[in-house]
Amino acid sequence: MPNCQPKWILPLAFGSIFPLFLLCFTTIASFNGVPLLFLYRSSYHFVENQLKPIPVSTHITISTPPSPPRFAYLISGSAGNGKMLRRMLLAIYHPLNQYIVHLDRKASPAERQTIEQFVTDYKVFKEVRNVRMITKANLVTYRGCTMVANTLHAAAIMLREGGNWDWFINLSASDYPLVTQDDLLHIFSYVPRDLNFIDHTSKMGWKAGQRAKPVIIDPALYNSKKAEVFWITQRRSIPTAFKLFTG
Ligand SMILES: *[C@@H]1O[C@H](CO)[C@@H](O)[C@H](O)[C@H]1NC(C)=O
Repeated sequence: MPNCQPKWILPLAFGSIFPLFLLCFTTIASFNGVPLLFLYRSSYHFVENQLKPIPVSTHITISTPPSPPRFAYLISGSAGNGKMLRRMLLAIYHPLNQYIVHLDRKASPAERQTIEQFVTDYKVFKEVRNVRMITKANLVTYRGCTMVANTLHAAAIMLREGGNWDWFINLSASDYPLVTQDDLLHIFSYVPRDLNFIDHTSKMGWKAGQRAKPVIIDPALYNSKKAEVFWITQRRSIPTAFKLFTG
C-alpha cells in the first residue's frame, strides 16, 4: 500500500511540538515566577558589591610597550594593475611607514600618470609625505634579474630618501594584507630590529651547477616588450668578482 500521509505532516508535527517545548522551557526556567535571567543579574550585582576598588598604582605596573618599528614597502605592479595597486596602498597605509610604488614599463603612460596623480594628491600622503613613486619606470620580468634590480633600486631610493626604517617588504599589486598595520607594527615592536628574515648561506651546493653556471637571459634588459626569461645552451664558470649567496 502506498504511503498516503501527505508530505507536510512531519513538518507540521515538529512545528507544533516546538512552541510547546518553548513553553515548557520558559516555565522551568523561571523560579518562583521570577525569570532566571533576573536571578542571574541580581547575583551578578551581588558579586560586584563585594568588590573593593584597589589602588591601581601600587598593584599593577603598566609597562610601556616598546616603540613600534617602521616598514619600508615596495608595491609593484604592471599594466592593468593601477586599481589594485591603489587598493593595496590604502590597505597597508600607516603614517609611520615608508612607501614606494612602481608601475612597470608595460603599463601605459596614462595609467602611470593616474597613479602618480593619486600618490601626489591624496590628502594624507601629501601631509605625511611618506609615499613616493618611481617615475622612471623599469621593465620587470618575473623571476628575472630585472626583478632583483628593480627591488634593489627601490630599496636604494628608500635608503636615500625614506629616513630610518627597520624592514623592507616588497609586495605585488595583487597582494592584500591579512592583518592591519596597527597589529603588524605592534607585533613587530617586540621583534629585535636586527632580525634578518632572509635566511642565507654561501654554501651553494647543487645550486652552483644549476643556478650559477647556466646563462639565463632576461629580455627586459634589452627589449621594450615583456617576455619570459630563457636559458641558452652555453654555461659559464662561477663568477669570482663577487661572492654568491643563496637564501
Ligand atoms: C620581492 O623581491 C624579490 C627579489 O626581487 C622577488 O624574488 C620576490 O618575488 C618579490 N616578491 C614579490 C611579492 O613581489
